[in-house]
Amino acid sequence: MHNADSHIRLIGVRKSYGDHVVLEECDLNVRPGEFVVVVGRSGSGKSTLLNLIGGLDRPTDGVVELLGQSLAGLSEDELSRVRCRRLGFVFQFFNLIPTLTVAENVRLPMALNGAGRAEGVGRADTLLGELGLDGCGSRFPEELSGGEQQRVAIARALSHRPNIVLADEPTGNLDLETAEEVLALLEQTCRRHKATLIMATHSREVLGTADRVFTIRAAHIHEEPR
Ligand SMILES: Nc1ncnc2c1ncn2[C@@H]1O[C@H](COP(=O)(O)OP(=O)(O)O)[C@@H](O)[C@H]1O
Ligand SMILES: [Mg+2]
Repeated sequence: MHNADSHIRLIGVRKSYGDHVVLEECDLNVRPGEFVVVVGRSGSGKSTLLNLIGGLDRPTDGVVELLGQSLAGLSEDELSRVRCRRLGFVFQFFNLIPTLTVAENVRLPMALNGAGRAEGVGRADTLLGELGLDGCGSRFPEELSGGEQQRVAIARALSHRPNIVLADEPTGNLDLETAEEVLALLEQTCRRHKATLIMATHSREVLGTADRVFTIRAAHIHEEPR
């Protein structure tokens, strides 16, 4: 399953809420290891698209495939297993667990996948080091700046070696300078760990060095020439 030549595939995807059509005729093919950005104004459907890809929501019509497997036939339990094992998530508001230390936050996805404690500790240390957070493992999220919290969230998103990382406005709550730093780290860390990265952003200032950029406009997704 994880050797598929397409990591994310959308075929004729449509998503509507009642009469409100949010996405229509959406086709997308993201290859392993690519960094893809989806840009569009607020309300254009970026989160809706990422939620469909992440199996958090189902399309009204069309097919979503992850790692060559259609999500359509999966039960809710099977979907959450795919999410837990194959996907990493980075959100605008970091979503770290405040009562856990930084290292415990990073280890959580590994623990949920049954990794042993020793393995988890080692990998959390490695990732925190790569993200410039050496020595922060025993601190609590609220003791860190926004940029540092998002770097912890990136370490957490990659700890269980997911195939795909989904990042929804990961820089939306940071000042521009910090946003650029965090985006560069997100991209580098995903590339180093060979994870496919799909990121949504409303801001053209933080497109980074994406391999491909798509725009959502009037419910349709278009690839931009680069
Ligand atoms: N659960 C929902 N029920 C009804 N409408 C929704 C729901 N989720 C999103 N929408 C609508 O879909 C459109 C796209 O939303 P969203 O995907 O969050 O946009 P973006 O992330 O680009 O800002 C918006 O008009 C929003 O109001
Ligand atoms: Mg959104």
